Amino acid sequence: MAFIVFEGLDGSGKTSLMRELTKQLDGLNIAWVETREPGGTRLGDEIRELLLRQGSEIPHPRTELLLYEASRAQHVETFIRPNLGQKKWVLCDRYSASSLAFQGGGRAISTEEVIWLNRFATQGLQADLTILLDLSVEISMKRQKNRQIQTSQPANHIKSKNIAFHEKVRQSFLDQARQEPNRWLVLSAEKSPQELSLELHHELRLRRWLFKRFYSRPSGGL
Ligand code: TYD
Repeated sequence: MAFIVFEGLDGSGKTSLMRELTKQLDGLNIAWVETREPGGTRLGDEIRELLLRQGSEIPHPRTELLLYEASRAQHVETFIRPNLGQKKWVLCDRYSASSLAFQGGGRAISTEEVIWLNRFATQGLQADLTILLDLSVEISMKRQKNRQIQTSQPANHIKSKNIAFHEKVRQSFLDQARQEPNRWLVLSAEKSPQELSLELHHELRLRRWLFKRFYSRPSGGL
């Protein structure tokens, strides 16, 4: 099993690439579960609702960080670890890197504090691979606008932040990827879904993770 996280700016196509990976895993008879943050548990979904609902009080950056971390602690203990324990692949839409990027980079909480809280919430459980779908802020915003028109859903308070905020978020993701190249795969989210799916497949094959069964985790953390 492996713990794979998908990160990127809003509108970077994380959900589509996750779907593609689930198809590849199905083809190899590999058991998987997909999940997301904030959320992934009942309590986590309630926290998500608190964080992202429209029209309510905007949380202070520290309050916001603690809520994301609370959701994460519950998620790790009651969903992610048990599923890895059952030898399933866990595919997660966002994880601790998002807190470093959005609350650290974007909302300027110190990196050390976010790292400490991430470690506390996860008790050291790291993703085996974090896939960053890198996208320019300009395209991310265009895609979000189109999505809002299609779904008639207004942006949450994070999505409605300005260009400078999203630039910092993007840079934080890229910095994190540069610091741990073995744990990150950076893909250009401007490529077509087919190209992205092929690149991911190639990378997982290179890492020798895509076999009929993957019995032991590629790296520590559990
Ligand atoms: P969502 O609608 O799921 O956005 P996306 O589809 O892009 O993932 O909302 C999740 C939002 O929460 C997103 O704007 C990023 C933000 N977020 C943080 O700010 N910190 C975090 O630790 C996490 C997990 C998410």
